[in-house]
Amino acid sequence: MALQKFFKTTSDLSIGIWKIEEDESFFRKNLVLLQSEITELAELSSKKRVEWLASRYLLHVSLGQEDRFACVKDEHGKPYLQDFDQYISLSHSRNYVATIHGLLPCGIDIQYHIDKIGMIAKKFVSEDEKKFIPKDKELLYLHAIWGTKEAVYKAFGKKGTSLINNIHLDPFKIEEELPTAIWATLNIENTTKKYECKHEIFEDFTLVYVYEIM
Ligand SMILES: CC(C)(COP(=O)(O)OP(=O)(O)OC[C@H]1O[C@@H](n2cnc3c(N)ncnc32)[C@H](O)[C@@H]1OP(=O)(O)O)[C@@H](O)C(=O)NCCC(=O)NCCS
Repeated sequence: MALQKFFKTTSDLSIGIWKIEEDESFFRKNLVLLQSEITELAELSSKKRVEWLASRYLLHVSLGQEDRFACVKDEHGKPYLQDFDQYISLSHSRNYVATIHGLLPCGIDIQYHIDKIGMIAKKFVSEDEKKFIPKDKELLYLHAIWGTKEAVYKAFGKKGTSLINNIHLDPFKIEEELPTAIWATLNIENTTKKYECKHEIFEDFTLVYVYEIM
């Protein structure tokens, strides 16, 4: 497994990004899984199993604890660590996995750039957000908006949250060589939450990580 990046944010959240180069047997050998995790894994295709295992392995390495803490799910599918009091989030795309963990509600999304993103944009871009997308950089901005909203969705974690109706982004400007700060607001029923988000581009991927402003 080749480590691509491993760093801490100013809010003391730990982020890892890895390129998967091992096969399933490597991860099975190096991870002690709970029975509920083995059951979850058995339902996946072989490609998904490797991504699933790689994300658990990266999280374990990133936590830096000798014993592994199992990664279980709540009723919404949101992952959490059994017996370890930190928030976590996971993402996989192509041959990469990304994880985040720390003491603030947080989310992460990694996404390989796809040309057809415009075809699903109406599901996640609002009329207000459309106004700040430059025509000549549409693909880049659509990936940034999608990744940010998916990461906010994961940080909040409740099924039924609508990317277009419940998560709103302030206008932002992407400097391709630099991380971009993006501010997001989640409004759902009587709840309002604010998130600070960081967007980066590497190779043909967009990476976004977010955390709740408490
Ligand atoms: C759940 C969701 C955010 C996953 O995102 P994705 O881009 O498909 O996949 P990623 O690899 O980035 O993330 C997968 C991880 O999300 C996590 N996840 C799933 N449900 C979650 C939830 N309710 N809260 C937080 N994290 C969740 C899981 O850890 C999963 O990894 P695992 O299966 O290895 O445990 C996404 O499928 C979703 O439901 N999005 C919001 C709904 C929507 O409107 N989507 C379409 C808009 S075009």
